[in-house]
Amino acid sequence: MGGSIGVGLLGLVLSVTAQCSLSPGDSNYRIDVHSHAVPDVWRAALVQAGYPVKNGTLYTDGFPVSNWTLEGHLEAMTANSVNYTTLSISAPGVTFLAHDATKAKNLARKVNLAMHQYTQQHPEKLGAMCLLPLPHVKGAIAEIKFCLDTLGFDGVGMYTNSNGTYLGDSSLDPIFELLQERNATVFVHPAAPGCESAGMGWPSPMTEYPFDSVRAMENMLLSGQRASYPNVTMIFPHGGGAMPYLATRIAGMSSLPFLGGLSVPESLAQLAGYYFDTASATSAIQLNAMKSFIGIDRILIGTDYPYVPVAQSEPALAAIQTNGNFTSTEMAQINSKNTLSVFPRISAKLGW
Ligand SMILES: *[C@@H]1O[C@H](CO)[C@@H](O)[C@H](O)[C@H]1NC(C)=O
Ligand SMILES: *[C@@H]1O[C@H](CO)[C@@H](O)[C@H](O)[C@H]1NC(C)=O
Ligand SMILES: *[C@@H]1O[C@H](CO)[C@@H](O)[C@H](O)[C@H]1NC(C)=O
Ligand SMILES: *[C@@H]1O[C@H](CO)[C@@H](O)[C@H](O)[C@H]1NC(C)=O
Ligand SMILES: *[C@@H]1O[C@H](CO)[C@@H](O)[C@H](O)[C@H]1NC(C)=O
Ligand SMILES: *[C@@H]1O[C@H](CO)[C@@H](O)[C@H](O)[C@H]1NC(C)=O
Ligand SMILES: *[C@@H]1O[C@H](CO)[C@@H](O)[C@H](O)[C@H]1NC(C)=O
Repeated sequence: MGGSIGVGLLGLVLSVTAQCSLSPGDSNYRIDVHSHAVPDVWRAALVQAGYPVKNGTLYTDGFPVSNWTLEGHLEAMTANSVNYTTLSISAPGVTFLAHDATKAKNLARKVNLAMHQYTQQHPEKLGAMCLLPLPHVKGAIAEIKFCLDTLGFDGVGMYTNSNGTYLGDSSLDPIFELLQERNATVFVHPAAPGCESAGMGWPSPMTEYPFDSVRAMENMLLSGQRASYPNVTMIFPHGGGAMPYLATRIAGMSSLPFLGGLSVPESLAQLAGYYFDTASATSAIQLNAMKSFIGIDRILIGTDYPYVPVAQSEPALAAIQTNGNFTSTEMAQINSKNTLSVFPRISAKLGW
């Protein structure tokens, strides 16, 4: 690949040629920041914890969990024309073990080691985001250090809330302190809301996940946590949930004296200072909302494989350019340049 340095003349020529046709600036090079592994050890723990298995299929948050395999994941990447993906664990992570810090920590460690094994088998295609045993802060801090320093993960995964503890809660300050110190990039997966009845019994991913992204960003705004740790790069999936649509309302209300009298432009700038991915957010309405709210340089590709099957993601990916009215240069940004700019570890690994 492009990073190798040719030794002999022939090697040099080959390597330069490869670099020209396969450079990341190429609008074809596509990085997916939102895809999930379902390691056996995690699946077994979910089943053991009592998540329902109906007709052979496991459900979490009212949604079926695929029978995931590494080979199937790589095939899906090819079908979606994805060159590199950052594997993460979808909700509920290990939050169902919130009552037992040791069990949560042990399972998170096993899952992280499984993801590490996948990335070691295909380092040029797969990276990983660390699974944290939140809401247990001490264990989460240890896991961040282990994943970033020992396993060489690309970044850290978090959830909008962990057992009802939302981003923005002051108990998470030590985590953000460490993330900021490490200049880490965080992928925030939505979770079922702290109060599950809000979903009226329908699958949480349908609307509660996007709304939970809004809740997390809103809580970080009002609590001041985001203002305290502005340099932690954070990605929210699904076009930021409903944030592009609700931001002016949230910023407006946050300016009321009893809510802290925050500056409207500063609140809007903060809310637009995140990165959003395109998973289930590729319609013209969604892409244009993202474009006008966060700007093209903050849009990243996400597929949500395997929860979103290839039959759905492949045509959705193909529609992004038309639906967003993006130029080829803009597509190159969205496909990989934006992502490489927030994941220096991926650039370093690929030699770009
Ligand atoms: C259960 O699985 C069988 C075989 O895969 C299938 O034919 C049937 O439709 C499934 N039932 C439900 C309720 O999903
Ligand atoms: C997973 O595999 C089991 C059998 O091993 C099957 O009954 C079930 O339908 C599969 N689930 C999905 C979502 O493919
Ligand atoms: C990226 O994937 C596309 C589509 O599968 C492929 O044509 C291209 O060669 C890949 N680029 C690199 C650098 O692997
Ligand atoms: C998890 O949530 C339940 C219900 O709100 C609460 O009783 C429990 O203390 C929480 N556990 C942790 C570790 O925060
Ligand atoms: C954030 O990064 C900027 C530029 O790199 C730096 O000047 C600033 O001090 C950092 N802020 C904090 C709170 O670390
Ligand atoms: C698409 O973008 C071009 C500029 O790149 C602009 O001229 C055109 O009006 C846009 N079309 C739509 C439908 O927004
Ligand atoms: C921190 O990461 C950002 C990208 O997320 C990068 O632009 C910046 O140079 C990094 N700063 C340091 C001090 O590593």
